[in-house]
Amino acid sequence: MAKKFYIKTFGCQMNVNDSEKMAGLLKELGYEKAEEPEEADIVIVNTCSVRAKPDNKAYSFIGNLKKLKRRKPDLLVAVAGCVPQKEKEQIMRFSHVDLVFGTFNFVKLPQLLERVKEEGKVVEVLSSRIPEEEKIPLIDSYLENPYIAYVTVQRGCNRFCTYCIVPFTRGRERSVPPELVLEEVKRLADRGVKEIHLLGQNVDFYSYGETNLADLLYMVSEVPGIERIRFTTSHPAGFSEEIAKAIRNIPKVCPYVHLPPQSGSNRILEKMNRGYTREEYIEKVRMLKEIVPEVALSGDFIVGFPGETERDFEETLSLVEECVFDQGFVFEYSPRPFTKAATFPDNVPKEVKNRRLKELQELIKKQALEKNKQRIGKVEKVLIEGFSPKGTELYGRTLDNKPVAVEGGDELIGSTVKVKITDATPFFLKGKPVTAETKN
Ligand code: SAH
Ligand code: SF4
Ligand code: F3S
Repeated sequence: MAKKFYIKTFGCQMNVNDSEKMAGLLKELGYEKAEEPEEADIVIVNTCSVRAKPDNKAYSFIGNLKKLKRRKPDLLVAVAGCVPQKEKEQIMRFSHVDLVFGTFNFVKLPQLLERVKEEGKVVEVLSSRIPEEEKIPLIDSYLENPYIAYVTVQRGCNRFCTYCIVPFTRGRERSVPPELVLEEVKRLADRGVKEIHLLGQNVDFYSYGETNLADLLYMVSEVPGIERIRFTTSHPAGFSEEIAKAIRNIPKVCPYVHLPPQSGSNRILEKMNRGYTREEYIEKVRMLKEIVPEVALSGDFIVGFPGETERDFEETLSLVEECVFDQGFVFEYSPRPFTKAATFPDNVPKEVKNRRLKELQELIKKQALEKNKQRIGKVEKVLIEGFSPKGTELYGRTLDNKPVAVEGGDELIGSTVKVKITDATPFFLKGKPVTAETKN
């Protein structure tokens, strides 16, 4: 019987993509995917450290594996990703963990597994990238969804926002050569993938030789079989008119931009070292909406950053009022090791952080509902990804990334269907396929 793997992934899409590559490597070694850790011969926990919450969740998941390991002593437990990158010693202390590696060397998973067989416990957390990393795109990702795939085009980050651990867990920013990106996209298209998400911590700063992100979007759009291209995350300082024009001019590039403002207060933006002002952010959004009027905008926000006053928070609310978002991810500030902000007093009380979080979420929810309601009666192209978690309806996304619950059967999965929107909530739309409707 084939051996089985189970990978638990915390964190961002970059981590999800790293897990898909690890799963791809394990598949090449003959492993199959297990549905539960209990069925697996190897369990990998791919961790995130961006805030205390995912960090703690990873620790409790790892802790819970101890019982399983007791029952199944041959089980191999591995911990990967951003947590060991920051504190491998703590992970090494778990006696039931056999392998610890980081974000730079997951490509070496097969060799690391060999070493565990020979040496027992193996810890290999590198502090900077290894030459093999250049070859990462040549690993065929294991695709959870056969129609949609992530392609990491940039790794690391140089910006050192004062609150953020990512530059410490992922190292310096580096872009993947465009020929490797194209080769990976072609291979995915050959496997039936229709939608590509280009990933980078600040993907709009993508730069390799003469090629920038706009050039890369044109190149990827020429790959036959690819119907949709998304890219994330864009940094407000890097988002250019050239990129906005690429969204407008390339029909395959989705009119959706994730452009995190983090705060609307210049005082806080400066303390965060974000590299732009409130006015510059608003101007970027104005430029984007002028060039791509139908664009959907989403963003990340941090509330309760050290020293954030009620007035600073009101500035964030007013930035949101001015820009109008389709979706927002709001986080309570969480001090992280190594970061500069961890030396500032974390002086906004927990209740205040929580109240601001809810207030901002409510405002964005209201905006999203208004925008979504305007879609009722319109016909949208929806790429059907599969069934909704309840299994009663199909699930897909519009060109601008809105989730849609669609009536219909499994014959529609994997195709782009014209859907008439019948209802809207702040978080998703509902609709019926147009063809099915005309048949009735
Ligand atoms: N590179 C991206 C996002 C990386 S982390 C960017 O610059 O926009 C994803 C989000 O987590 C960030 O946008 C931020 O909103 C949030 N985040 C990062 N560090 C945080 C911290 N210490 N506390 C709370 N939220 C944080
Ligand atoms: Fe973190 Fe800032 Fe880099 Fe984004 S740009 S990953 S928030 S340091
Ligand atoms: Fe988390 Fe690492 Fe991504 S800290 S957000 S998994 S880069």
